[in-house]
Amino acid sequence: MQKLLALVSVALLFQQSAFAAPAATAATGLLNSGFTSKGKKFWASAADPGTINISQNVALLKSDFGGVTPENSMKWDATEPSQNQFNFGNSDTLVNWATSNGKLIRGHTLVWHSQLPSWVASITDSATLTSVIQNHISNVAGRYSGKLYAWDVVNECLNEDGTLRSSVFFNVLGENFITIAFTAARAADATAKLYINDYNLDSNNAKVQGMVSLVGRINASGKHIDGIGTQMHLSAGGAGGAQAALTALAATGLDVAITELDIAGAAASDYTAVVNACLAVSQCVSITSWGVSDANSWRASSTPLLFDTNYQPKAAYTAVTQLLA
Ligand code: G3I
Repeated sequence: MQKLLALVSVALLFQQSAFAAPAATAATGLLNSGFTSKGKKFWASAADPGTINISQNVALLKSDFGGVTPENSMKWDATEPSQNQFNFGNSDTLVNWATSNGKLIRGHTLVWHSQLPSWVASITDSATLTSVIQNHISNVAGRYSGKLYAWDVVNECLNEDGTLRSSVFFNVLGENFITIAFTAARAADATAKLYINDYNLDSNNAKVQGMVSLVGRINASGKHIDGIGTQMHLSAGGAGGAQAALTALAATGLDVAITELDIAGAAASDYTAVVNACLAVSQCVSITSWGVSDANSWRASSTPLLFDTNYQPKAAYTAVTQLLA
């Protein structure tokens, strides 16, 4: 009898392993395709050589994202760590990957007070700083001319009250550093859309108003700036002002893009609020997530992205892709 029971249980085990359905894996491949089906240009992700080396990450970049932004490899400290000595190893790797996989590229970033080598930060002479900016942009944007969809030319130049932030660029050149940078970027790459990009543009606040006035002043002498990027590193529950912010930025007549989206806790309701806001504003051309999975997020402890640390889609992914279906 015992033998018979043992035989039956072995047979059952065999049956289970031979015929059991594979563990359910949630459907992916719906994000960029859904977003573009609504008339938007792309849903991208931050990436770099470190994350295009991870097979699960690459699979999702291929299936769900229409573009990439280099998370660090095109910043000044990476590309020109010493004066006039350029290093394009990591940025070339990313651009080549994106080009061969049919992904659009948002370049990030040419002029930023952070991740800036000390040899630039210590310049005090306006003629020197002007030519240093022009040389940097001509080399970096020039190298990828014709290959990028857009550039974040100037990053994070505003204070929270909408005034210009203290930085070597503003302190030495005044507001004119912005026109100098955009003019150099246009000369280096005639086809990339040129963006000004900042954070905390998440409701129609003083910083958004400051950005609207700033682009009005800069573009008074010609259309230097093509678009405004709002990074949208949001707190949980922080998406309520997104549509008002996008609407206010779009009133400039420029393109608007959500450039570094992540939301603490990644609640489905927060993600759908952001996506609905972009859908409601015709000039909102794209969304870029600041990474694919929480495994590689700069704010990993906030679990802010659409895919968890095992590269599995979260409830927010399902909600967003249902909205876009
Ligand atoms: O490359 C060095 C490496 O050589 C060194 O060994 C290691 C030791 O700490 O550091 C590495 O540099 C790190 C770099 O990321 C590359 O991994 C820096 O420490 C680290 O600070 C840096 O963080 C980046 C951060 O910008 C720097 O400001 C994040 O990855 C990146 O996600 C973040 O992105 C910014 C956007 O550019 C602008 N908006 C805000 C956003 C979040 O801070």
